[in-house]
Amino acid sequence: MNDSREIILSADGSSTLKLKDFDECFHSINGALAESLHIFFSSGLEFYAGERDEISVFEMGFGTGLNAYLTLLFAKLHPWLKINYITVEKFPLKEFEYKKLNYPKMVASIPGYSFLTATENPTEDFVKPFNTLHELPWGSEQNLLPNFSFTKFQGDLLDLELSRECVDIIYYDAFSPNTQPELWSTDVFKKLYGWLVPAGILVTYSSKGIVKQALRDSGFLVKRLPGPAGKKHIVRAIHP
Ligand SMILES: C[S@@+](CC[C@H](N)C(=O)[O-])C[C@H]1O[C@@H](n2cnc3c(N)ncnc32)[C@H](O)[C@@H]1O
Repeated sequence: MNDSREIILSADGSSTLKLKDFDECFHSINGALAESLHIFFSSGLEFYAGERDEISVFEMGFGTGLNAYLTLLFAKLHPWLKINYITVEKFPLKEFEYKKLNYPKMVASIPGYSFLTATENPTEDFVKPFNTLHELPWGSEQNLLPNFSFTKFQGDLLDLELSRECVDIIYYDAFSPNTQPELWSTDVFKKLYGWLVPAGILVTYSSKGIVKQALRDSGFLVKRLPGPAGKKHIVRAIHP
């Protein structure tokens, strides 16, 4: 799963990775950045953050680091909000892969983010934190900002154990149910359900019938929401 990946451009100009052997991409080919902003931000983090001052996020599949990076920038933009970010990745990207991704450059050109730059080299200001997320050691909590702590585990989600009720939001970003059906089972969602605080949420791009059913069978209330370009629906599942 990590040996035959190639970097391609999605429709909004942002890069993504394609698994050649599985004909599967890390993001939507209709727009990687647009997809992350729509699903994990508008429908996840921004929706949930509301008036809260502390949030724990768990991401399934650190991958390109795009979601962690956007969440780190969100913390920079919202210094009163403390974010504790935990993620797991079984097949980490190699340096030559993540250094080719254009997310820092893309994000630096979004008006809402551009004032985060501190020097006369805005691109560098955005590249550094992105690379840092990839370069940090695995398995230990790092305080990247006064209000952003980050822990990435290298391994399999199926083996990962977290405490009960320690997470507010789950970004569920596994490969599709066709490619990795074992990651969309009731057993997996029951485990994630146990990690969520009451009223916590899980957001994901797949609104397949079997996914919604497995979520319901695990105790979640499932809400279908409009998807980003090229995708009719996404899912927000709530721990009632
Ligand atoms: C759809 S990609 C999304 C990655 C990431 N969220 C991003 O935006 O780039 C799924 C990710 O899950 C990782 N993965 C696959 N199987 C896994 C497993 N059993 N446990 C942990 N990570 C896994 C893949 O290597 C890949 O990075």
